[in-house]
Amino acid sequence: MGMKRVDSLDVMSVKPEQEYCLGMPGVLARECSHEEKTGGQHFVMTMPSGFRAPSGYNAASLDIYVLEGAFWNGQKLMSVGSYTYIPAGREIDDFFSESGARVLVFSDRKFEFYPKKKGEIDPNADDFVAVTDTWKMPWVDPMKDIVKKSTWVNPKTGKQDRPAGVLTKALRKENKTGEVVALTALSPGYVDPGTEHHPHNECLYLISGDAYIGYTFDYKKQDVKEDLVLYKDYYIGRPPGIRHGPVCTQSGALWLVYLADMYTGIFKEVDDWEPRVSSYLSAAAYR
Ligand SMILES: [Fe+2]
Repeated sequence: MGMKRVDSLDVMSVKPEQEYCLGMPGVLARECSHEEKTGGQHFVMTMPSGFRAPSGYNAASLDIYVLEGAFWNGQKLMSVGSYTYIPAGREIDDFFSESGARVLVFSDRKFEFYPKKKGEIDPNADDFVAVTDTWKMPWVDPMKDIVKKSTWVNPKTGKQDRPAGVLTKALRKENKTGEVVALTALSPGYVDPGTEHHPHNECLYLISGDAYIGYTFDYKKQDVKEDLVLYKDYYIGRPPGIRHGPVCTQSGALWLVYLADMYTGIFKEVDDWEPRVSSYLSAAAYR
């Protein structure tokens, strides 16, 4: 699903909308991005304390990741770091949040919940992913996991690679839609010296930490952003072809990543990556 370009959005500063989550009154939504063609949405949903929704089904397939608080998804408690993927039309258990929850949602079309109704599972959706405690999943090297191709060459081995310091946990991948949803961690002090772009969409939500991006621009270089700095609860949406980098982080970064296809990174070294990265790392203080 193609998302519009969003370079750096402080999501919690977005005005919350009451009517955004159709069929689920009582929740507030802050939109990160949406797609005009499909109606797909990336947003943060806030459930107030005492929130209840009956079982039913949604017209959209939903990736759900808990950022803060907790809620009961039927008999399963979803607390911070819990993830599930519910294909469109599948029965959704009742929700209940005792003390409130803040949840990141990726939908493949407009969120439309039908309480107390039965739907038909979308045959084109990916398979259901049951509630998963992502803290218990092992970190893996992305080259073995969500990367199909990278043009970055490891100067030590001369082979295709990713700069050391990245780990991932794939939450949804290698399924019908081809989409990838993954947690990605950058180590403190991680540096990626180049710009890269992808033939697929890449959307990222910064769960914790900081990230510096030297340049962001389109292939015609008509819309150039320099020295973007992202913090907790910032969002980036990139359609195919948007160049970005160099990238570094001082305190480390934990992202929830949406890719429309397995990661293919087309890399080009940036002439002035070193002074840009050095000036960020020597001055930033987010510990
Ligand atoms: Fe990227």
